Amino acid sequence: MEEVFGVFGDPVEHSLSPVMHNAAISALGMKARYHAFRVSREGLGDALLGACAMGFGGVNLTIPLKERALELGFLEPDALSRGIGAVNTVDFKDGIRGFNTDGVGALRALEDACGSIRGKRVVLLGAGGAARAIAFQFASVGARVLIVNRTEERGRRLAESVSSVGGDVEAFGFASLGELLDSAHVLVNATSVGMYPLVNRTIVTGDMLHPGLVVFDIVYNPLKTRLLLEAEAAGARIVTGEMMLVYQGAEAFRIWTGVMPPVDVMKRAVLDALGV
Ligand code: ATR
Repeated sequence: MEEVFGVFGDPVEHSLSPVMHNAAISALGMKARYHAFRVSREGLGDALLGACAMGFGGVNLTIPLKERALELGFLEPDALSRGIGAVNTVDFKDGIRGFNTDGVGALRALEDACGSIRGKRVVLLGAGGAARAIAFQFASVGARVLIVNRTEERGRRLAESVSSVGGDVEAFGFASLGELLDSAHVLVNATSVGMYPLVNRTIVTGDMLHPGLVVFDIVYNPLKTRLLLEAEAAGARIVTGEMMLVYQGAEAFRIWTGVMPPVDVMKRAVLDALGV
């Protein structure tokens, strides 16, 4: 029988996860299929219990369900997803267990380009869901995480929760950005600034960047955001956002199946779907 995987969310019709996972499933010759399911916040509990009862191989959660999952009494989150406050991957092998692979996706994408970030100074723009996953994950591998968020209080709250689990992290306002970037190794944009259709926006401009810096933008629509174009012109190394999507999916796939899927195949499927 064909094994079923899927992504639950609302809206979910534009998710790139089905093409990405189905490309991996085909490449591995598996008898399985990954589908998108429109599931509301109120319906999440029933949908997960149903998926478990029907023997699904695993599901991803997207907007607006990642935080909601932690409110369900029957779902057991691992320590990382509990810290982040969001679950993006659910496995049904041994109860109904929650994971968050967004941070590890960002970590792998970045480390592919620049090697280990242990001991490196990482300026992280943002304090929303994506930034939370990245802050916890990067701090867990020994990076020094410098959070810079428009709403400083939100950044401070994130820094407090990451440092409560032992992370080396501090929060700042936009006024400190120039100084922080002068001595940083890595800049990560984990805000939506620069995303289609407002593609002319950037928080950091080229004059604030230096050639030794690695600049990673998690926005993948467009692939080369204004921030990355300016970073390239300033001589910095750039990392585009699609590999975070690919690696968070690959890690979920590994949790469900025990097999690391072919990330190059998944990347090609994502780029084709984006028309790149
Ligand atoms: P996500 O879950 O995708 O990370 P989110 O929780 O809405 O989305 O968070 C969006 C992040 O982008 C926040 O850090 C937000 O800053 P605030 O906390 O100050 O709202 C940031 N952001 C969004 N638009 C921004 C803008 N125009 N300028 C600066 N930061 C922006």
